[in-house]
Amino acid sequence: MGKFTVLDHPLIQHKLTIIRDKNCGTREFRQCVNEIAELMAYEVSREMPLEDVEIETPMGKAVTKRLAGKKVVVVPILRAGLGMVDGILELIPAAKVGHIGMYRDETTMQPHEYFVKMPDGLEEREMFIVDPMLATGGSAVMAVDALKKRGARSIKFVCLVAAPEGVKVLQEAHPDIDIYAAALDDHLDENSYIVPGLGDAGDRLFGTK
Ligand code: PRP
Ligand code: URA
Repeated sequence: MGKFTVLDHPLIQHKLTIIRDKNCGTREFRQCVNEIAELMAYEVSREMPLEDVEIETPMGKAVTKRLAGKKVVVVPILRAGLGMVDGILELIPAAKVGHIGMYRDETTMQPHEYFVKMPDGLEEREMFIVDPMLATGGSAVMAVDALKKRGARSIKFVCLVAAPEGVKVLQEAHPDIDIYAAALDDHLDENSYIVPGLGDAGDRLFGTK
């Protein structure tokens, strides 16, 4: 079974409280989502593989470390995942960005895929799927399916708020995936919204509805 980790760094928790507040406006919401994503990326990237490299410092030759392998890929699930991309790129500026377009049907709550665009060579890349919300888990499972179908083998799922229901669904469907969240919330309501959650992440990020 993949790991489920809540990243409880004080700065992450403080900023999450700001965006949970219903009075937090679009501008502050957007900024905090990016800042939380950046802080999370620091933790999530801890296990990225390194290799030795010989360099010459002003003092002479040295064997030191650098990131090994192909560039990582950040994969936002549209729309709301877009809000996390810039923060992660602050930390990993050379990362590639693949996009998965998906929306939840508001009646059935089933996810629908409408767009996928990935860089090449997914087999050899570390993939970070990002989406602020892991609710029923339907979108996350479908996003991982889409990446695996295109050859991805090393995938992490990074969200801000997770519901226990979604964690279970994702872990059962994809036991090889590690999941990172800033919070594990209480439950889903009758409309499959996370409680207490933060409402509709996409709408709050983009000022819609
Ligand atoms: C939200 C959220 C996730 C999904 C989570 O997106 O950003 O992608 O719902 O729900 P699930 O775990 O039950 O699948 P939404 O469909 O509202 O689209 P949006 O990002 O365009 O607002
Ligand atoms: N999508 C959201 O944006 N919020 C939720 O609480 C659940 C799904």
